[in-house]
Amino acid sequence: MLDIKITKTTAPKAKPTDETKLGFGKISSDHMFLMDYSVEQGWHDPRIVPYAPFQLDPACVVFHYAQELFEGLKAYRTADNKIQLFRPDCNGQRFADSSERMCIPTIPVEDFVQACKALVEVEKDWVPHTDGSSLYIRPFVIATDVGMGVHASHNYTFCIICFPSGAYYAEGINPVRIYVEDEYIRAAPGLTGYAKCGGNYAASLKAGEKAAQLGFAQVLWLDGIEKKYVEEVGAMNIMFKIAGKVYTAACTGTVLPGVTRRSIIEVLRDWGYEVIEGKLSIEDIMKAGKDGTLEEVFGTGTAAVISPVKELDWKGDKVFINDGKIGDVTQKLYDTLTGIQWGKIEDTKGWIVPVCEG
Ligand code: COI
Repeated sequence: MLDIKITKTTAPKAKPTDETKLGFGKISSDHMFLMDYSVEQGWHDPRIVPYAPFQLDPACVVFHYAQELFEGLKAYRTADNKIQLFRPDCNGQRFADSSERMCIPTIPVEDFVQACKALVEVEKDWVPHTDGSSLYIRPFVIATDVGMGVHASHNYTFCIICFPSGAYYAEGINPVRIYVEDEYIRAAPGLTGYAKCGGNYAASLKAGEKAAQLGFAQVLWLDGIEKKYVEEVGAMNIMFKIAGKVYTAACTGTVLPGVTRRSIIEVLRDWGYEVIEGKLSIEDIMKAGKDGTLEEVFGTGTAAVISPVKELDWKGDKVFINDGKIGDVTQKLYDTLTGIQWGKIEDTKGWIVPVCEG
């Protein structure tokens, strides 16, 4: 259990007046959580302080060798004015798993969750009220050793910041066009695909820019070896409903183990759908698109929750999905998951973690 010292700001910022114009991750709240690591003291000095810029030596390891990680989760305000989180322990566990991969000392899951809850409680007035909006929580850790040697740092800072946010994509839940990327790759066996490290995202930008220039919302990533099997879409997991069954890439090292992904798989199985986690070739998907069995395609992630796909383009070949409309199962999944998150649907799964009264 962390002994968190809280220092409140003496100059709170004005809260956004128009919650329909929040955007995503644009406006930070008043405070942040900090905790430091040194070899001698381990993780120490957990504290909540006024939000402020960091002062860091330009030679810090994080700036040069990208030893860092992040997470993303949300705090929701319910209709009866309670503030709650969705499966923060899953984010804590993924943070620990990512830490292990990046040679960063792990933070116990219960400390990670406690830190998120403590900060959200201090920032509860920043949790927006408008339907579909939430407080996006961004925990991250950076390597702070100073020097040019390539090595795992001996010093780190763990930080959590928050942003009142609306929809992640400007399109909201409108179906998007996707470019199947056959030049660049996101991950390969043995690399860091399953870790939520910034480097994965930096490496993905080039393909995203290319797709945008061609008029697509995002890229569909294929496996890094054969460029044959589908893995992720943009920064989300992806699912394909083909002839009544739902397919998604297995989490075997190259795919981010999404919290929304695993929640949706559970819900689908509860509803009686067969969900297959495994290899699904882009060729089979295109074939299904042509013979009419590709029923629904959607990305899943914390930020956007669900992002339906209406078109896939692979080397100039195109398939169109569900006449450009959001599929029934996609819509029902979106309604169910967001219903649980915002407290409109009873949480029978123990996924909701209450924080405080709003
Ligand atoms: C998410 O869907 O939560 C993501 O990982 C996207 C994030 C990088 C903004």
